[in-house]
Amino acid sequence: MSLDQINQRLRLGCLPEDWTQRWPASEPAFISGGVFFLQPTYLRHACDTIRMDAEITGLLLDAAQRIAAEPTLERLASHCHYLLFESGLELNVRQWPQISREIHAAGPLFYAVVYLSGLPSIQRLYRQRGIAESVMIHTLSDLELWIREHKRRNGAWGFSNLGWMHNHFREKLIALGRLQFIPGKFGSPFHFYRDVRSGKVVGLAEGGCLFRDDGQFANADYGTIRKGYWASRLEMGDRQITGNPISPWGVVERREITLARDAWPEILRSGDPTMTVHIPASGPMTPKACGDSFREAVSFLPRHFPDWPFRAFTCISWLLDPQLEAMDPRPANLAAFPPEWYLHPVDGATERQALERVFDIFEEGTFNLAAAPMRTSLQRGIIAFMRRGGHLRSTGGVLFPEDLDWGKSVYRKSWKGVIGCFAVSGLRQQCSLSRSQSHRRP
Ligand SMILES: CC(C)(COP(=O)(O)OP(=O)(O)OC[C@H]1O[C@@H](n2cnc3c(N)ncnc32)[C@H](O)[C@@H]1OP(=O)(O)O)[C@@H](O)C(=O)NCCC(=O)NCCS
Repeated sequence: MSLDQINQRLRLGCLPEDWTQRWPASEPAFISGGVFFLQPTYLRHACDTIRMDAEITGLLLDAAQRIAAEPTLERLASHCHYLLFESGLELNVRQWPQISREIHAAGPLFYAVVYLSGLPSIQRLYRQRGIAESVMIHTLSDLELWIREHKRRNGAWGFSNLGWMHNHFREKLIALGRLQFIPGKFGSPFHFYRDVRSGKVVGLAEGGCLFRDDGQFANADYGTIRKGYWASRLEMGDRQITGNPISPWGVVERREITLARDAWPEILRSGDPTMTVHIPASGPMTPKACGDSFREAVSFLPRHFPDWPFRAFTCISWLLDPQLEAMDPRPANLAAFPPEWYLHPVDGATERQALERVFDIFEEGTFNLAAAPMRTSLQRGIIAFMRRGGHLRSTGGVLFPEDLDWGKSVYRKSWKGVIGCFAVSGLRQQCSLSRSQSHRRP
């Protein structure tokens, strides 16, 4: 059966390149009626292994049976399994088309069934790295979470987070306690330096970035706040570096500071390897749970993933917005998260993710303040904040493993010594504050 024939039957529209490229390669292993992961024994075992809830297991078994009974879906499922778990190809699964209920009753859960076909391969990879099966089970529990989230958002069972779960099944994402970790690269235009003597950290903005008076990028909040623009300057000399510091509260300051290169070696810049941190919607995020998770990550990740060396934990999220700390009433767990990071502004930051995660607004421009739900104290606090003209925005954070002392707000505390300043005598010799007025104007 050709892919075109399948598309004629299923009407999936433009097919992704991933599918067309290797279609013949998955043909030899395909035996109609014999696709291993569509068999009830396999699928039940896979669901039991990852402790899938009984109701969802039943739905997946039903979907697999329907896929097996429809020759086009059966062949397609076999091909997707091949691509994901046998081809070794880098895939762009976000472009794979959703198969709606209108196309086929099993469509909405098609990819969840296909992902479960990868359990033996992910088990093998975890064993090779000496990771306990409990970590794998915890990591893969995200599949059930996203199936439930699909139901919550759409009112019907399904699974649409193909791109996100690709991380889990390709062994890129590891869940350790409350948090999830994915290797990444630092992508923000900032440099971080550490004082060799005190261990304190300071970030400087790259040159040529346009900021507002309040230290946010000029294009933050959809570029709606148009006053007070200034451009950052970073001068890297042989012996000194002069630039605009980022305060750990996440704003770039217009004043300039100068660091002596030999006293302040660089510890992070754009492109460096990092471990990005993600927070699943799996219940409250208490400070203790977050601290435990980081402490585990610091010892676990280098031990089991020596091929993933990283310089810092990083995160970009609405959960890092320091304005959450001033929300009335104060959301206890949320407000405790940002102070633990060295925050930085995000290029093009908006309220989009906060509205999505707090009010289920997925289409830009459709948020209606007057009709927004006010079920939780956070929703009520945010509405009041927005009525006063406030803008929530995604914020970035950096946390170096060697600074981990969760609950102690280490960067904010040491900031007084770093900048507040440079008045601390030991630092005065190494760094000096200059107040150059030579900013380039936009
Ligand atoms: C992150 C998260 C677990 C925090 O929840 P939490 O630990 O309960 O947070 P807090 O204890 O600070 O909550 C205080 C109040 O805000 C509410 N609240 C917290 N997160 C909320 C959310 N996303 N939507 C609506 N209300 C929320 C709580 O229900 C509580 O309300 P109450 O006082 O009426 O009982 C939660 O927001 C969540 O699940 N978010 C989705 C995941 C996410 O956003 N990940 C980040 C993507 S990068």
